[in-house]
Amino acid sequence: MAKENKRDGFGSKLGIIAAAAGSAIGLGNIYRFPCELGENGGAAFLLMYLGIVLFLGIPVMLSELVIGRHTLSNAVGAFKKLAPKSFWPFVGYMGVLCGLLIFAFYSTVSGWTLEYIVKAVTNSFHGKDLAAIEQDFNTFHESGWRNVLWQAIFIFLTGFVVFRGVQNGIEKFSKILMPLLLVILVVLGIRSVTLPGAKEGLAFLFKPDFSKITGKEVISAMGQVFFSLSMGMGVLVTYGSYVKKSDNLTTTALSVTLSDTLVAVLAGIVIFPAAFSFGIKPTAGMGLVFNTIPMIFNQMTGGYVFCIIFFVLLAIAALTSTISLLEVVVAYITEELHINRKKATIIACAVTVLMGAFASLSLMKDTPLVIAGHTVFDGLDFISSNIMLPIGGLLIVVFVGWRFGKKRFFAEVSNEGMLKAPLKSLIYFIIKYLAPLAIVLVFVSGLINR
Ligand code: TRP
Repeated sequence: MAKENKRDGFGSKLGIIAAAAGSAIGLGNIYRFPCELGENGGAAFLLMYLGIVLFLGIPVMLSELVIGRHTLSNAVGAFKKLAPKSFWPFVGYMGVLCGLLIFAFYSTVSGWTLEYIVKAVTNSFHGKDLAAIEQDFNTFHESGWRNVLWQAIFIFLTGFVVFRGVQNGIEKFSKILMPLLLVILVVLGIRSVTLPGAKEGLAFLFKPDFSKITGKEVISAMGQVFFSLSMGMGVLVTYGSYVKKSDNLTTTALSVTLSDTLVAVLAGIVIFPAAFSFGIKPTAGMGLVFNTIPMIFNQMTGGYVFCIIFFVLLAIAALTSTISLLEVVVAYITEELHINRKKATIIACAVTVLMGAFASLSLMKDTPLVIAGHTVFDGLDFISSNIMLPIGGLLIVVFVGWRFGKKRFFAEVSNEGMLKAPLKSLIYFIIKYLAPLAIVLVFVSGLINR
């Protein structure tokens, strides 16, 4: 037990919810979700997304938290404790690798938020039309080294917070700022839906057309769910290990899933009506969000100030997410390889700066960093989000359902009988049978139904 006392932990119930929600809510909601939705059929994608959240969100998230709190270990250590000398620690290793891969391309876009804070402060959007704003975005994201520099700064910031440790680092950042982000999204949403021509955007978002859905869209929807909820690579195992024995894991999973989904849907309501109103195509990809948002602020009283606040909050939302990615890697290095926290953070950040540079540079015009028609940036995103996370999630639910077992699962979610946890039987049933089946089915349908 001596070891347990030495581990860092979250200070309050709000602490774990805030930190897990901080990890979940980020560029995945405000940048990636609208991109994916725009490229994969609009409302039909949204419905599939919500269905998968409902079905897989709580069970997978709860499985991870349970494993983490039960073992008080990092993603690799947890499986080593529960199933030594078996295949299972592989799930943890894959998670650590996946964390590095995601951090590498996620930090590219995180760096953009810093550039956009500068653009907002210097009032560089003022009076510009769409063509000029698009031009600025393209010049910047194809700029190569400028992009790499912001990215490196962002990775450094993440390293700084993670190095300071869980309690005085992660928790403080998440608590106040995420609700503020929600408020500003509501303000933006109201402006967006009242723009001329906004109706078409709302129809795109809410009137499903299932004829456009093929396997690619289904796989993307599942990947987006895992990505947005930070599931499938051990973030929630690691954070679960910092949770107090008296906290309620089920309500934590529920609150995190709900708030994350709310922010994603809100981001959709902000982006699409405005995009349609300005004539930005939903399939615009990277530019969709970074061009639409400044355009909305240009149409708003007080837009200058709101725009600064928005990009600062977006950067912080990204930061609380990158913190969780890095934390998985650092917790693994310190606890399994016995390297101190400072060195571990430096090593992980250095690796990410290097890999991340490839992701950023692959966005330059005429870049040679293209494999099979995809940039390194897209490739990292696709492999980690659409393949590795769902496989990680599949293995985690199979592990909890078939190896960890009902008894220990019930004991963990009910805090050894202290809580009622009325949903535990249903959730366990989903974990054991339905969730694995659903993940496999989505993969199979994606492979067949192209
Ligand atoms: N969920 C975060 C977002 O939506 C990104 C993220 C943080 C993540 N940690 C993760 C994604 C772990 C997958 C796995 O922005």
